[in-house]
Amino acid sequence: MNAVYLAPSVISADFGNLQADLAQAEKGGADLLHVDIMDGHFVPNITFGPAIVARIKSLTKLPLDVHLMISHPRKYAAAFAKAGAANITFHVESEDDTSATISEIKKLGCHVGLSVKPKTPLSAICAHLNQLDRVLVMTVEPGFGGQKFMPDMLPKVEEARAWRKEGNFKYDIEVDGGLDKETIEPSVRAGAEVIVAGTAVFGRPDIGQAIREMRETALAALKG
Ligand code: DX5
Ligand code: ZN
Repeated sequence: MNAVYLAPSVISADFGNLQADLAQAEKGGADLLHVDIMDGHFVPNITFGPAIVARIKSLTKLPLDVHLMISHPRKYAAAFAKAGAANITFHVESEDDTSATISEIKKLGCHVGLSVKPKTPLSAICAHLNQLDRVLVMTVEPGFGGQKFMPDMLPKVEEARAWRKEGNFKYDIEVDGGLDKETIEPSVRAGAEVIVAGTAVFGRPDIGQAIREMRETALAALKG
């Protein structure tokens, strides 16, 4: 796979001006909208729940890439599917049974992703790879936007790519945290295809321009 999909993270958008920010992201060529759900328990921060996700869904045509940083993803998957998630990614470190949660998300008609925090080796998700549409390698400790990219996570991205080839799996590889027009380059070289970026997109005065710059860098890195 050689394409790069850009997924701006709505957590960094201006919620007082959300419709305009989302329109700019769409116009700038965003492929997905990344939606971070935090419960104040799995991570030390709280964002929002399904009602807000449904509202976001009504404001954009972009498919919603919902990232659950919550302790009980199985319990809440149906609510986020109903709110309009195209993909639901949850953490292998959560408290719910991983296989049961994957089945639940699939049953709801959504694509399913599984994520690892920085301290968790990728081997923690090995047993599930044939079930997954997406593998999310966290490149910061989940919980907050605006943190520094951890380059030492890139070997996990390479590992995910190698395992996909060996096992003929179909998941795509996503990175999340600290991605900008510099860090996107080593990330796509390592094999990342879905690039989440909050601050580097919505924190910039020209959202469309920020997306275009990131895409240019990524495509140049793939060619070079
Ligand atoms: C971090 C979230 C990220 C975050 C990325 O816990 O999962 O999606 O919004 O934000 P930036 O791009 O600012 O690191
Ligand atoms: Zn995220």
